[in-house]
Amino acid sequence: MLPVYLETFGCQMNELDSELVQGQLSALGYRFVARPEDASVILYNTCSVREQAEQKAYSRIGVISARKRAGENLILGVIGCMAERDGLDLFRRHPQVDFMCGPGELDRLPQLIDNVRKSNAAQELEFAQPLALADRTALAGNRSRRSITLSAAEDNLENLDLSRAFDPDSSGGKRHSAYVRITRGCNKFCTYCVVPNTRGAEVHRPPDHIVDECKRLVDAGVIEITLLGQTVNHYRYQHGSAVTIDGREAPQVGPGLSAFRSSAASTGKRTTTFADLLRRIHEEVPALKRLRFITSYPRDFGDDILSVMRDSPRICRYLHAPAQSGSDRILKMMNRGYTVGEYLDFVNRALVMLPDLCLAGDFIVGFPTETDEDFEMTCALVKRLPFKNNFIFKYSPRPGTTAFDRLKDDVPEDVKRFRNNRLLAIQTDVSHATHKEWIGRQVEVLFDEVRTFERAKNAKSNASPITVMGKEIQSSSASSPAQTRLFQCIGRTAGDLIFALECKNEQEAILFVGKTALVEVSAASALLLTGGLSKALVFAE
Ligand code: 5AD
Ligand code: SF4
Repeated sequence: MLPVYLETFGCQMNELDSELVQGQLSALGYRFVARPEDASVILYNTCSVREQAEQKAYSRIGVISARKRAGENLILGVIGCMAERDGLDLFRRHPQVDFMCGPGELDRLPQLIDNVRKSNAAQELEFAQPLALADRTALAGNRSRRSITLSAAEDNLENLDLSRAFDPDSSGGKRHSAYVRITRGCNKFCTYCVVPNTRGAEVHRPPDHIVDECKRLVDAGVIEITLLGQTVNHYRYQHGSAVTIDGREAPQVGPGLSAFRSSAASTGKRTTTFADLLRRIHEEVPALKRLRFITSYPRDFGDDILSVMRDSPRICRYLHAPAQSGSDRILKMMNRGYTVGEYLDFVNRALVMLPDLCLAGDFIVGFPTETDEDFEMTCALVKRLPFKNNFIFKYSPRPGTTAFDRLKDDVPEDVKRFRNNRLLAIQTDVSHATHKEWIGRQVEVLFDEVRTFERAKNAKSNASPITVMGKEIQSSSASSPAQTRLFQCIGRTAGDLIFALECKNEQEAILFVGKTALVEVSAASALLLTGGLSKALVFAE
């Protein structure tokens, strides 16, 4: 029972990868621990989307490397996008790293750990050769593994998703919500983004595998499933094209953009589109209370998807659709493939069809050549639409991307910082306005966690900070000697708005965890709704 510490950086795709890795290694007898001090194997599942995420991982690697140099017998593995992007450079700069495994090769992780263990054991007997590079690296190395030549039958990575442990304890304690991958990789090549390089070309999983995984998760107690893909609305599976040796359907390389053009000729083959997939899951997994999906690409999001959402009450009225910029010139340089006008048309279409829709997105500020005028257009777009939140990033040049190769990172850091803060402030006002729209309404909330905090007697806002998913949603101020303890159960609406229910005590708060309840919203800040249980209380499993 070798103890393993696994830390995850970055996106939801990485969180899911980590969960699958944990299931895979647990099944082989590894035991997961909460602190690196207690582990013999240390794994960092890394992210390369921005430099900051990489720096954080490097500093963790540095700490473990120092422990290894001081003589501790540890195995250090770097998995995920940074391994894929850095390649052998990582070994050169961090010789204490024992192995690397890219996100497209995670099925080979147990073998890598095994190789290092055997090699370490042999070293102790002093007759061993150093482990060959090939035995301690599993990287796609180029884009070929998931390219057109992908032999679907050999796609072992699919086995990692298929072998998912449906044991709620192996999902990091998140018993009620789960991610299900529908598409791996990305074909869009936005000029700033490393994902197509690190995760490879778009590969769609067979619909039967996805529906089956949803059913099994629901049987294991999951209430809410989030389908994952870099561009979920581009999901498209053509039946009868990719089969395994024994005739079963296999993952399939994406068909390319022509498939989304109205002029696309029919191939005569039955196709499952994203709209079809949503409808199938909604119909075939009736016990699933909430179905959501991320991330939507603002182009090629057809009315067929919106109609299925409208007609399927358990599909959440929530869209995460990153606009990235409000300037057509910058969007073009980003290779996003839509204009601001087209983005507005898409969102307006969605809002007409789904009036309760909650909209979220991402923006990048300080992309090369971005002028004050371009930035003002971004501000105007944020002000114009009812975004519940936006993730705002300063442009980070990423080696291997087109923008890195062709465009000078010419917006000074202080200008990036200023634009970042200004857009955040605008978004805070917009978020406040969208949250306030919910005051007086009854909504269903799925509760996930209990928060306890101190509040000074007779003080309204003198509370310790409350953080949900790493974000501070209630800030602190100076502590007071006369304090009362408060208990809240925190949950989310179908539109992903955070809701806090004040409870009498911890026991009462715990009662709500993992349940949905109808609440009445009485107050709203930019990040949080509050209120009480609806008079017409509905308690559902
Ligand atoms: N610099 C800054 N932000 C980036 N993103 C992706 N690549 C970069 C980069 N090089 C942001 C985009 C994307 C989100 C996941 O990360 O906004 O939607
Ligand atoms: Fe990156 Fe663009 Fe693909 Fe999103 S759509 S993962 S930003 S290349």
